[in-house]
Amino acid sequence: MAEVLTKPIPVKSLGASADRPGAGKPMISSTRIARRVRRLGRQISETYSDIETPLVIVVILKGATVFAADLLRSLSIPAELEFVRASSYHGGTTSSGRLQLAHMVDGTLVGRHVLLVEDIVDSGLTVNVIAKRIKRLGPASLRIAALLDRPARRVVEVKIDFCGFVIPDRFVIGYGLDYAGLYRELPHIYSLT
Ligand code: PRP
Repeated sequence: MAEVLTKPIPVKSLGASADRPGAGKPMISSTRIARRVRRLGRQISETYSDIETPLVIVVILKGATVFAADLLRSLSIPAELEFVRASSYHGGTTSSGRLQLAHMVDGTLVGRHVLLVEDIVDSGLTVNVIAKRIKRLGPASLRIAALLDRPARRVVEVKIDFCGFVIPDRFVIGYGLDYAGLYRELPHIYSLT
């Protein structure tokens, strides 16, 4: 079950991390993230232990890349990588509601078991639109893995099959998550609000 966070600690100094002096306390430390991602990897590997073709990991660019890279290396089953490019924030801290899809997967998904990997499910619009498109491509199954679930801002219902942490209504950065394109490199996750 996903860990539920109730007491976020805001980061005082943007761009701070454990490696940079003046760091605020992270909302989720890299150690905690790593432990949770390893568990998700084990859970996903068990779920797909009987499939006959490699699992297809579809990563939603750009935010999910860091999570996906770690998740992939936590799997004990064969997996292929595909990417989808979607953007809805356009540099702000709330979703614009307008989803731009710039790239869909390269390979065929017909008859394949697909795991859509997202860094955060917020309004749910991004993952919802992409899941609908993928379903039209004829996969054998489609599940969703999300590192973070922020249910306070949900607009459309989303079933997250593998969830890392349920977080409160705070804007978060780090571990792939950005603000205006920055802070993706931070190893921990910080609350910006
Ligand atoms: C962010 C995030 C998710 C999406 C979640 O992407 O990475 O993909 O928004 O929001 P939603 O549930 O309200 O749709 P963004 O559009 O900022 O692009 P990025 O991944 O390149 O940062």
